[in-house]
Amino acid sequence: MTVYEYRAGLEGVPATQSSISYVDGQKGILEYRGTAIEDLASQSNFLETAYLLIWGEFPDAAELASFEAEIYEHRRMKYRISDMMKSFPESGHPMDSLQACAAALGLFYSKRALDDPAYIRAAVVRLLAKVPTMVAAFQLIRKGHDPIRPRDDLSYAANFLYMLNEKEPDPFAAHIFDVCLTLHAEHTINASTFSAMVTASTLTDPYAVIASAVGTLAGPLHGGAAEEVILMLEEIGSVDHVPAYIEHCLEHRQKIMGFGHRVYKVKDPRASILQKLAEQMFDKFGQDKYYDIAIALEKTVAERLAGKGIYPNVDFYSGLVYRKLGIPTDMYTPVFAISRTAGWLAHWKEQLGENRIFRPTQIYTGMHQVPYIPVEER
Ligand code: CMC
Repeated sequence: MTVYEYRAGLEGVPATQSSISYVDGQKGILEYRGTAIEDLASQSNFLETAYLLIWGEFPDAAELASFEAEIYEHRRMKYRISDMMKSFPESGHPMDSLQACAAALGLFYSKRALDDPAYIRAAVVRLLAKVPTMVAAFQLIRKGHDPIRPRDDLSYAANFLYMLNEKEPDPFAAHIFDVCLTLHAEHTINASTFSAMVTASTLTDPYAVIASAVGTLAGPLHGGAAEEVILMLEEIGSVDHVPAYIEHCLEHRQKIMGFGHRVYKVKDPRASILQKLAEQMFDKFGQDKYYDIAIALEKTVAERLAGKGIYPNVDFYSGLVYRKLGIPTDMYTPVFAISRTAGWLAHWKEQLGENRIFRPTQIYTGMHQVPYIPVEER
């Protein structure tokens, strides 16, 4: 009988071979297709990065222009999707709305041709184009407003902020948001990407792939952490309360949100970039008292938990940036999903290239040969 070694959470188990991104968790390195995240954050933009992730190389000027034009052309939402959203409870979480809407998109494009590059490109374009529109629409619909149409003269990032906040954003704010999207676009085989790959491996449609990834991203141990970080900073309330808060968490074995990572054992490079972006936002748009609490928290956690390799992850500083951009707290994870759609689609495309259905095994811990006892005799 074959004996398999069980690894809780599949820690250290390679689930695929991939050339999309690379993480060195000891040195704090993240690369997309071999290019350092720091270079992409400072010199590229989200759509160029998405193209790189999905097609494996940087687009030339003409390729980038036509990719952007296709996306801008498909940003409008289906009326039937917005009608469906109007029937959702306003109190529901926007991630649930996004998951339902991503799946519903598949109803409109049910003819599947996974071996046709034109089909793949159309699905990539539609999803990258429509996910932000669907996220922003839920925000307006739950406020009792009608969703507003995308503006062709605005960039991907600026248009999303415009659709969400119903006003054209400051260009600097739009630039910072674009960098946030670039930073969150891809991160090897995290839980939601793994979920996307498992779903993709059944050869279902790409809308189901994105819907299952959205559902996985929503949890507080994954993308939901950014929202939890802001709630935590609000609960702590002042720098003086930080030590007691940390003691309480450690005593009750409660996770401190925005800290720790399966792969990084040093500060997540994205957290360092986001921290700088947060500082730039405060310089331009005014300080935020929660930033001081965050700094104190990082220092105290380092004193207490650095020995375990626990440092800020990507979700620690992102919420502080999003607050300054006027993004509501429960929209942080949907914003993460907008960006990560690029990575999920890259893995979907890669999975199709050499597909084998995911079907792992298990180590059975139950009983055998249990006799059946009729209900009246139990
Ligand atoms: N606060 C306090 N202790 C922690 C934390 C934390 N945030 N993270 C890990 N630990 C401790 C944990 O208690 C355990 O200690 P011990 O060995 O004494 O039992 C040890 O570190 C290993 O933790 P783990 O939970 O086994 O680690 P994991 O690799 O299974 O989980 C994680 C990784 C990110 C889920 C976890 O660190 C965590 O829950 N962090 C808080 C939630 C969070 O910030 N999530 C965002 C993750 S990064 C972006 C994303 O994926 O979206």
